[in-house]
Amino acid sequence: MIRRVVIYPDKRLKEISKEVKSFDSELHKLLDDMYDTMIDKRGVGLAAIQIGEARRALIINIPIESAPEGREQPKENTLEIINPKIVEKRGSQKFQEGCLSVPGFYEDVERAEYISIEYYDRYGDRKSLSDSGFLAVAIQHEMDHLDGKIFVEKLSFIKRKKFEKEWKKRLKSNL
Ligand code: CO
Repeated sequence: MIRRVVIYPDKRLKEISKEVKSFDSELHKLLDDMYDTMIDKRGVGLAAIQIGEARRALIINIPIESAPEGREQPKENTLEIINPKIVEKRGSQKFQEGCLSVPGFYEDVERAEYISIEYYDRYGDRKSLSDSGFLAVAIQHEMDHLDGKIFVEKLSFIKRKKFEKEWKKRLKSNL
C-alpha cells in the first residue's frame, strides 16, 4: 500500500526511531508499504519515519540501470535493514544526494567512503554488509533518518540558508 510521505520540515523527521522488537507480520506489512511508497515516488531508499513510523527500519533498492526496460527495481533486490549499527567506517566521499522528504532538491554531501554494518533482516536474522560507494552513501543517509537527522542539515551555513529560503517559497506556492 502506498503511504503518504512525510515532507520537510515536518517535526516527525526529527524523531529518534525506536528499535524493532518483533519481526512479525506487522513489520512485514510496514516494509512492504515502504517498498510500494518508495517505488511510487521513484526513490532508491526510504526510512520508516518517512511514512510516519518511528521504527529503526530502512530499505534501499538501487535500480538496475542496464535493464532492457530502463530503470528497474524488482522487489527481491530490496535491501531491508532493521536495527542497523555501524561497526566500522573510514575515508570520505562526496555525493549528490536527494531525499523523498525534500522532493526536487539535490546537493553534494560528504560522508564516509567505506562502512561496515550489522543489522537484522525482516525475519530477525542477523546480517552484516560492507560497501564503499553508492550503497555506503545510501545506508548512511537512511541511517541518519533513524536518528532524526536529514541531509540538508549537513550543508554549509550559506547553502542551508539558501535552501531554507527556496524551500519556504516552494511550500507556499504548492498550497
Ligand atoms: Co532521505
